[in-house]
Amino acid sequence: MNLNDALSSGELKGPLEKLQGYLAMLQLYSGAIKEITTKLEILDEEFQIRYDHNPIHHIENRLKSPQSMAAKLLRRNQPLTLASARANLFDIAGVRVVCYYIEDIYQMEKMLTGQQDIRLLHRRDYIAQPKPNGYRSLHLTLEVPVFLSDHTEQMPVEVQIRTIAMDFWASLEHQLKYKAKAPVPDSLHQRLRQCADKSAALDQEMQDIYRQMKKGQ
Ligand code: GTP
Ligand code: MG
Repeated sequence: MNLNDALSSGELKGPLEKLQGYLAMLQLYSGAIKEITTKLEILDEEFQIRYDHNPIHHIENRLKSPQSMAAKLLRRNQPLTLASARANLFDIAGVRVVCYYIEDIYQMEKMLTGQQDIRLLHRRDYIAQPKPNGYRSLHLTLEVPVFLSDHTEQMPVEVQIRTIAMDFWASLEHQLKYKAKAPVPDSLHQRLRQCADKSAALDQEMQDIYRQMKKGQ
């Protein structure tokens, strides 16, 4: 059967509607990423003008892949539907903000969560309390409005804020985790943890140097 026959027989109606629904949902999450990113860029520019300092080194974003959404829903025994993804997954839209210094992270958090149209749904501070493997970052789940032609949707975005040093460690650790074909011995886990701690000490030291230089100016 060719495409035209399939379309006229109505056979594709269901699948096409599902596809349409999926694309409409992705558009909402993509809009939410843009909203958050613009807010961050405006704050960064304002900081440059007012304080002669850019807190943000760079911003990345990603939409969770359908495979990854399905895997998480299955893990949690939730149905594999769009409605279920929307109700149960809060990290479909992800924004990663890489800052220069540790204090920049908390400043960005304060300014972002202080905005009228942003709601903080969840906060995990893995800087104050690093994960046992040494992972550090501030994780915020924020809800942001996405304005459409005839209504507004409140969409969740997972925002990870970290320093360049935290990002360096997390990127390499992530790669190593993927590359490992056999169980990783405890001694190597310990060394990775030590790398994270050394990196955190460097972060503190660099921040202190920055403060001293600022004071001297
Ligand atoms: P996911 O199923 O991965 O979404 O985990 P979660 O929803 O329970 O949240 P969690 O805070 O543990 O992790 C969310 C995200 O933070 C991950 O997808 C990674 O981007 C990052 N992350 C968390 N822990 C680690 C870690 O140990 N190493 C690295 N490299 N990244 C991490
Ligand atoms: Mg996640």
